[in-house]
Amino acid sequence: MDIFDTIREDHEKILGLLDSLEGIDPADVARQEQMRDHLIALLEAHTHAEEALFYPLLANDDGGRPLMVMATEQHHVVSLLVEELRHLPASDEHFAAKCAVLAENLEDHIEEEEEDIFPIAEELIDEERAKALGQQFQQHVNDALAPQRKAA
Ligand SMILES: [Fe+2]
Repeated sequence: MDIFDTIREDHEKILGLLDSLEGIDPADVARQEQMRDHLIALLEAHTHAEEALFYPLLANDDGGRPLMVMATEQHHVVSLLVEELRHLPASDEHFAAKCAVLAENLEDHIEEEEEDIFPIAEELIDEERAKALGQQFQQHVNDALAPQRKAA
């Protein structure tokens, strides 16, 4: 898998987790919080991998750089929401609303990444590099998730 497929697959997982989180019975606080923790771990691993391995591809491209800067700001807003959500009890009446706002932000961000940034990045790297970066990306995410898996 190249880096584009790898990122797309992660995006599907992230959106799927958000969907699952929304579908949990609000009375089941423990499951909501467990799903929230799982979502945050993947989200952080994914955004860090993007910033380390994917966004730098666009840094020296006239068309790509403004999109990279915008995407980095979107990550920043997501990280602020994540910090608020991290320790928010699922029993709090703001929990579901904050999750919904996070989902809206992520849906827009993911759409911009896949529709606006991917085509530019695809022009900047060849297939071989895209595949190598895909492996590195996966490794980066796996390494970031490893301590969490060990603790679970
Ligand atoms: Fe992103």
